[in-house]
Amino acid sequence: MKAIILKEAGGPENFQVVEIPTPEPKAGEVLIKVKAFSINPVDMKTRKGLALYNTLKQDEPVILGWDVAGEVVALGEGVENFELEDCVFGMVNFPGHGKAYAEYVAAPANHLADQPDLITDEAAAASTLAALSAWQVLLQQAKVQPGERVLIHAAAGGVGHFAVQIAKYIGAFVIGTGSSSNYDFIKELGADETIDYTDEPFEDQVKEVDVVFDTVGGDNPLRSLQTLKSGGRIVAIAGGLTDEVKKLAAEKNITAISYLVQSNADDMEQIAELLEAGTIKPHVSKVYSFNQIAEAHQQIETSKTRGKIVVVV
Ligand SMILES: NC(=O)c1ccc[n+]([C@@H]2O[C@H](COP(=O)([O-])OP(=O)(O)OC[C@H]3O[C@@H](n4cnc5c(N)ncnc54)[C@H](OP(=O)(O)O)[C@@H]3O)[C@@H](O)[C@H]2O)c1
Repeated sequence: MKAIILKEAGGPENFQVVEIPTPEPKAGEVLIKVKAFSINPVDMKTRKGLALYNTLKQDEPVILGWDVAGEVVALGEGVENFELEDCVFGMVNFPGHGKAYAEYVAAPANHLADQPDLITDEAAAASTLAALSAWQVLLQQAKVQPGERVLIHAAAGGVGHFAVQIAKYIGAFVIGTGSSSNYDFIKELGADETIDYTDEPFEDQVKEVDVVFDTVGGDNPLRSLQTLKSGGRIVAIAGGLTDEVKKLAAEKNITAISYLVQSNADDMEQIAELLEAGTIKPHVSKVYSFNQIAEAHQQIETSKTRGKIVVVV
């Protein structure tokens, strides 16, 4: 099969399309003929030698990617919840070696869900790591309740655009940050208020929120503490929380959590139901071919991607 390997950590020029043996599904795994996979900032960070690079390097060749949609073409021993020709999607083996940039992927059956009939392969591939992150943070970490005020940073991005839709599904009052070029997009996702973070500091524009979902990192979590009520929660997914943030949060009676998304079939099934019902819709801003992987990485590196970008195989 064809796979995109990363020869060594560095720029997108280090990708190479090669022929390697098709993987055999182990017990509990299915073999997926990949139709599409999506690209995330963690792919780009890992490509540069950061994030999960050292984990992946232990099992060469390094093949990036975790988000797949495709068809089941072989079943490992003991797999009972899928059959041959099923269309499935999921975030596989995160934070391990997903190996999704390939024509075939061997994936644990308990990381996958059935792909809803009504959505395309591109849409399914897009609704994986980013959608799961939003789901797990809002429901399981922040435990957002109906009527709560939720501030979602980078609301136009891969995670943020799912987070706005999922927070509205929960029944929250949603405030999203983005640049003015994304104002209409964030409103169309369902946000009640949109804040242009390039105009003036967001912490001067919003107060008294119950929950902050930080997908930006840097000094954003620290600044976000100014927007939270006593008793509020902040969940940060882009780079952890400093001791300063943890200390100030404790002084202000704010729960501060740093979170890493986990592969999980039950959560994927919840995402599938929301997609099926049309409650959430992925926005795929660009589709690339297998040979355009370098261009896809250049795009994700801009930090300006609207919604998701996807590669079709
Ligand atoms: N820990 C975890 O489990 C986990 C899971 C998923 C993602 N992440 C991390 O979370 C971060 C976001 O991921 P993503 O997939 O959503 O990224 P993304 O799709 O690349 O985000 C791009 C969006 O970010 C917006 N943006 C950039 N700077 C901003 C700022 N200062 N304030 C508000 N919006 C800003 C841009 O909107 P404008 O053009 O309007 O500025 C753009 O639409 C990444 O660092 C990623 O690695 C972590």
